[in-house]
Parts: sequence; C-alpha cells; structure tokens
Amino acid sequence: LIDSASIEENFIQCLSSYFSSNPKQFSTIIITRKNESLFTSTLDSTAQNLRYLTPSTPKPEFIFTPLNESHIQAAVICSNKLGIHMRIRSGGHDYEGVSYVSEIETPFIIIDLAKLRTINVNITDNSAWVQAGATIGEVYYRISEKSEVHGFPGGICTSIGVGGHIAGGGFGALARKYGLAADNVLDAKLVDANGRLLDKEAMGEIPFWAIRGGGGGNFGIILWWKIKLVPVPKSVTVFTVSKTTEQGAEDIFNQWQEVAPGLFDKDLFIRVIFQPVSAANKTGRIISTSYNALFLGDTNRLLKVMQKDFPELGLTEKDCLEMSWIKSVLYIAGYPNDTNPNVLLQGKSTFQNYFKGKSDIFTTPVGAFQELSRRLLQEDNPLMIWNPLGGAMWDFNFYDTPFPFRSDFYYMVEYLTLWHNASEDVSKHLDWIREIYKYMTPAVDDQRRVAYVNYRDLDLGVNKKNATNFKEAAAWGNVYYGVNFKSLVKIKKKVDPENIFRHEQSIPIDLSIK
Ligand code: FDA
Repeated sequence: LIDSASIEENFIQCLSSYFSSNPKQFSTIIITRKNESLFTSTLDSTAQNLRYLTPSTPKPEFIFTPLNESHIQAAVICSNKLGIHMRIRSGGHDYEGVSYVSEIETPFIIIDLAKLRTINVNITDNSAWVQAGATIGEVYYRISEKSEVHGFPGGICTSIGVGGHIAGGGFGALARKYGLAADNVLDAKLVDANGRLLDKEAMGEIPFWAIRGGGGGNFGIILWWKIKLVPVPKSVTVFTVSKTTEQGAEDIFNQWQEVAPGLFDKDLFIRVIFQPVSAANKTGRIISTSYNALFLGDTNRLLKVMQKDFPELGLTEKDCLEMSWIKSVLYIAGYPNDTNPNVLLQGKSTFQNYFKGKSDIFTTPVGAFQELSRRLLQEDNPLMIWNPLGGAMWDFNFYDTPFPFRSDFYYMVEYLTLWHNASEDVSKHLDWIREIYKYMTPAVDDQRRVAYVNYRDLDLGVNKKNATNFKEAAAWGNVYYGVNFKSLVKIKKKVDPENIFRHEQSIPIDLSIK
C-alpha cells in the first residue's frame, strides 16, 4: 500500500521530469490536495449526485485540473507509469458519480477538465470545436451568439458536460429532427492510453466510431469534439400542457404512446413528465402529466399538426409561445420565461440532488398509466420522463454509432427519485425505484431489456477490480449497447490493452473475444 503523500509526491515528480524541457508548463499545474481548504469545494463543484459526496464515500487522493493538452498527456503517462487509478470528469453529471468516485478501486485521483471549456464556432462551415469541460448550455449559447438559425442536437439539461454527454450519445429536444449529439460529431481530439494526442484521422475510423456513444471513461480522454451545427428556424414554438386524471390524462397518454414516435412530424418533440402535485382542493397529491414540447415552426403550423396527429391533447393557440431557439433551450430546461440566455455561461446546475435513476427503452406502447401513477404517489419526490424516439432517430442504422436503439424503439423512459437530506433512509428510495422497475418488466418481456448508457444504473452490475470478462460485463454491456457491445470490447482491447481507462461499468478487456 502506498500512502497519499507518496502517491502525490511520485506523481509530481513524474510530471516534473515529463516537463523538464519545458518548466513553464510544469509551473502552471494545478493539484488540489485532500488537506487543502479548496479540496471539498473543488470536488463538489460539478458533482451532481449528492449521494456520492457523503463522508463515507471514497475520496480521491487529489484532483488534477489540467489547463492544456500537454497537462493531460503528462497526467495519463504518469498515472500509467505509477499505476495510479484515474477518474475523468467533465461536467460531473454521471448518474452514479463514476467520474468523481471510485467504489471498486482505491486509491484514485480525478482528472477534472472543468477549466478546458473553449468553444470556437465557425458558422461558415457549420461546425464548432468545443472543449470537453464546456457545458452543453455554453455550447448552445456560443452558437446562438453567432447565428439565430443554427443549433445543436444535445441534451435538455444545460449544465451537462460535453465530455461525458456526447461520449454516451446525447439525447434532447432536437433528436427527432437530427438524431443524437454523437450522430453529429465530425471529428474529435483525445489523449489515448499512451498519452498520444489523436484526432479522427490519427486514431482511425474504428476508435472514432466507439467514442461517439460507447460511453465515457472507456477509450481515452476526449479533449475536443468537432460538432456539426444544424439549421433551426429563427422562431420556434414551445408549449407545456398538463393533464390530471380528471382531465382524461390516461387516454391522452395512451394516445401519445401510439403517435409520438412514429406519426408525429419530425419537427415536433413532445415529452411527457409525470410528477405528483398537490390536488386543487388540497386533499393530498395527484399525478400531473406535463406535455413539454418544442416545435421547429410557427404556432399556425403546429396547431395544424396537432389537430391532425394528436387532437386529444386539446392544444390551443394560447398554450403556444414563439421564441428564438436559444430561448426555447431555456424553456425546455425549465428556466423561467424571462431568463436571459447568458445564464448558460454560468454553467451552473439547477438540479444537484440526492438521486437514483433507472431507464427503459420500449419497442411498443405499454399503457400502465394507472399503476405507474399509483406507485409514483407512494414516493416522496419521484419523477418519470417519457421521451419519444422516432423521426431522425430512426434514420440511423443500429451500427452507425454504438447507440443501437433506432428503428423499432419508441421511447426512452427515465424513472427518478430525489431526496434532499443525507440523513434520509436511502434504502427506502432505492427499494421504491427498484420496485417500479420490476413492475415494468412484463412490458419488455419478449425482448431483452435495454437502457441508455447516459442514464447510468449500477444496479445492472459493476466491474470487478481487475478481471471482468465479456460475459459478466454483458449484464450492462448488452443493455446499453445491444449488438454493438462485442465490437466495443474488441476496440477496447486494441486501444487500451492495459485497461487504463476503467470504472464501475467501463468496457472490459476480454482477451478471449476475437
Ligand atoms: P461526467 O463528468 O460525470 O462524466 C460521465 C462519464 O463520462 C464518466 O464515465 C466519465 O469518466 C466520462 N467522461 C467525462 N469526461 C470525459 C472525457 N472528456 N473523455 C472521456 N470520458 C469522459 N443525458 C441526455 O442525453 N440528455 C439529457 O437531457 C440529460 N439530462 C440530464 C440531466 C441531469 C440533471 C443529469 C444529472 C444528467 C442528464 N443526462 C442527460 C445524462 C448525461 O448526459 C450523462 O450523465 C453524461 O455522461 C454527463 O456528462 P458529464 O461530462 O457531465 O459527466
């Protein structure tokens, strides 16, 4: 066993010799040690899930905050040489905190990309180079600064980091029009297991395929993504219409399940959010289903589309708001209507909570309204979000990127439970979410059960410290990547044979897989 002081000392020593010919680089290195006053605030700064910040959660020996590419190269080379386990963090939104906590292996350090957030937008060639530590909200803002008619199809929560987000796919309100964020990546720069800085051409097509949806923390440290900008109208339309059981919520939801993925115009994205609310007569809680939508067009055309495909919702002109795409980003993310878009530059989360999430991706309508509602009412702060697929999500083939859930997959469903105090009975919340997940099992009985890697769920299984084989890792690998899992294992063996980039659910090395 090596103590903290020597891990840090050896690491610094190694960096110093790495930079011996360029001492200026060495002098700018930022290492935040466990005993320093800034340690807790640095560790907590972007960590989203407070469940992984409790005193009993393992803490890193130190946090290394690179300021440039060569700092990252040096960190990878030195960690490798000294056998120090690294966790890579961009936006810290991992559902199970694997970017800042190692439960399966200590000691460990964090490479925190929070200071690498440059965004260079090039409207002329419809692209942008974005650094991994930037939030997706910053990317949206910088694009909108340059053009009112360009956007990018990334996630809805604006504080997610582009490093992990795009590596895991990236699903949002433009997905039915343009697919995932990872479907719209043109190039990337990453530091590989040998500390080399590689772009698409240097890494080759196959690793470039793997990093666009094969999950964060597997194949290297992404420094930059080159993303493709997509056209958006100067003015889009948004609405949120809520329905309770008394207002026919069950029939409307059943109808939404029938039409939202397959029938709706590609310009229309309507997700459904289930949440308990206080009953109007204050006699307890009831379930509200909110239809939260973005339409890439004006109110008139939206009303026609809705009248044709989903009249059951009863959308009226006064429910609709027209605004610029960047304002719609804020609206869908839940900011108040008068929020200035420059709030996105603060990169701040509006979510930090104790939480547990699980997800399903369904191939058929499943109904289940009554029982889901009953179960949601049993929990303190539950949330269930139904996201429609279809549209452009179905234009891609299952092997185009590692995210294989294309045609035939109807919606991604997220189950969440939130709590606000470390002292709460965590097992009660975990039991609740595991039960609701169990209840949904028959809805997927004919197929294998699948989920979205960006909604990481460690209940599916975790790596053993050193040797998890393909079969064991299939417990989550097949769930997240379906038929693409085997290809990812083969690529992992080639690009990271020593398994430098590993975490609880990283792609394993299995030498028997040919
Ligand atoms: P974080 O830094 O925690 O990293 C996540 C994973 O990627 C870890 O394994 C990490 O090691 C690895 N990683 C991070 N940076 C890397 C890099 N530079 N190179 C290689 N690996 C790296 N998803 C979605 O598709 N649509 C959505 O709308 C939302 N909304 C949402 C809201 C909230 C509140 C949360 C907490 C999460 C979401 N997500 C989401 C899920 C989100 O996309 C997912 O957690 C991403 O992995 C987050 O990326 P970060 O960089 O923020 O996470």
